[in-house]
Amino acid sequence: MLSLHDVRKTWRQGDHEVVACDVGQLQIDAGETVALIGRSGTGKTTLLHIIAGILRPDRGSIEIAGERIDRMSEGACDHFRGRHIGMVYQTFNLLQPFTALENVLLGALFGRGAGGDAPDRAAALLQRVGLGERMHHRPSQLSVGQVQRVAICRALINEPELILMDEPLGNQDRQTGGEVLDLLLQMAREGNQTVLMVTHDPESAKRMGRTVDLATLRRVP
Ligand SMILES: Nc1ncnc2c1ncn2[C@@H]1O[C@H](COP(=O)(O)OP(=O)(O)O)[C@@H](O)[C@H]1O
Ligand SMILES: [Mg+2]
Repeated sequence: MLSLHDVRKTWRQGDHEVVACDVGQLQIDAGETVALIGRSGTGKTTLLHIIAGILRPDRGSIEIAGERIDRMSEGACDHFRGRHIGMVYQTFNLLQPFTALENVLLGALFGRGAGGDAPDRAAALLQRVGLGERMHHRPSQLSVGQVQRVAICRALINEPELILMDEPLGNQDRQTGGEVLDLLLQMAREGNQTVLMVTHDPESAKRMGRTVDLATLRRVP
């Protein structure tokens, strides 16, 4: 489902370079739920953005559902992401002027389309995560846990094969974050979707089928 080979990304900070990501090999099968664990600053968000095709690596190959996204043009990559990948960002990235329902529909607009039954599916997803009464609220009127649930619905609206999640706890308490993660995993299981989560938290990693320590993926220089 997902295959990474020799992926590297460095950032220039002042006059020196920081290696943000250095992965030798990573293979994830369809339907797996995997936690990539690493301390803060070890390149988890960078790697997730590379897998989503939001960031280009300096080198390496990324294959998702049989397609080499590192070889795609930016436009083709955006199109591919819209249809095959659902991303729950560390900072959730909802658009503040829009309601919960509109934010989920915007996900559809950049994916399989916001017409047809998309509004009904968006509403059903929000119901499913317990936000049936909050659909017409803006992000500023919701709690952190509720905003994350909306971000999950936006990630799921296009029925992507691959779901990427950055730090499931965010700045919530462990119980709330754990409940949201369990809900996502349950929905992913029903859809036979693959989930890759990155986290610094060993407890939330335990909820996943497999845990991989990011440090062990580093190539020996
Ligand atoms: N846009 C950027 N410009 C320069 N350095 C960056 C940028 N984004 C991340 N970094 C650096 O890359 C490293 C990894 O960051 P990040 O991927 O956010 O780690 P994590 O998500 O594991 O906390 C850090 O040293 C960070 O300072
Ligand atoms: Mg991060």
